[in-house]
Amino acid sequence: MSLLAVENLQKSFGGLHALNGATFDIVPNKINLLIGANGSGKSTLVNTVSGLWAPDGGTVTLRGEDITGLQPDEIFHHGIMRTFQIPRHFANLSVMENMLMAHRGPGEIFRNALTPSRWRHFESEQTKKAITILESIELAHLKDKLSFEISGGQIKLLELGKTLMSKSDIIMLDEPIAGVNPTLALKIFDKIRTMTGSGITFLIIEHRLDIALRYADYVFVMHEGRIIARDKPDVILDNEDVRESYLGK
Ligand SMILES: Nc1ncnc2c1ncn2[C@@H]1O[C@H](COP(=O)(O)OP(=O)(O)OP(=O)(O)O)[C@@H](O)[C@H]1O
Ligand SMILES: [Mg+2]
Repeated sequence: MSLLAVENLQKSFGGLHALNGATFDIVPNKINLLIGANGSGKSTLVNTVSGLWAPDGGTVTLRGEDITGLQPDEIFHHGIMRTFQIPRHFANLSVMENMLMAHRGPGEIFRNALTPSRWRHFESEQTKKAITILESIELAHLKDKLSFEISGGQIKLLELGKTLMSKSDIIMLDEPIAGVNPTLALKIFDKIRTMTGSGITFLIIEHRLDIALRYADYVFVMHEGRIIARDKPDVILDNEDVRESYLGK
């Protein structure tokens, strides 16, 4: 049985077919890299699978269960978490508070944010876990900063940290290393690779192929709303359609 399968997914904006029959099957416990030209539909795919937008057609199946069109909260409770290309976080909460709330669903996070007494007394176990994760993404020294006080790259890291804090077993990251320096970007992918060893499956959108291809186990190529190729990185780089549609060679 597939872990996460997408079949013939459709999503249009007016006359524009952002998803036009996207079909793929994620490989469990691996780094699945999703690449493709700007506007090819990558973020739309993640937005649709994660419940942000209902698809116009097609199905999303998780371990054989049809989860098409469920709300983001329900998808989260099925063990799928995602980050946004343009990060969404609580600017008026500290880095640590953002982390501590991340093991709850999106709706709950919002409700709890409005009533601080509900999240101030977190057990130290959660706090310790948050600190370990923050150390690994080099944000520990900023834990008490309000998140509007940290840089754009650091906000990207916080988004990643939140996914690691959750108990999700499928994590979808939309450009996790955009704006992150190369040394730290490598460390982030090292961390992601380690996590695949503990049963977490990643679907990662990334344009920084110099780094991402070193870590990807499988690469999926999107072109005009469809997956046109799926293979190991070295095979993908030799694929003529891919070179034409994305690499421009
Ligand atoms: N909310 C929206 N309303 C209207 N059109 C949209 C919306 N979101 C995406 N689109 C359009 O759908 C197409 C696919 O966009 P999408 O953001 O999925 O591309 P992408 O592959 O993630 O690109 P990038 O690499 O630039 O992030 C684009 O033509 C885009 O303009
Ligand atoms: Mg995108």
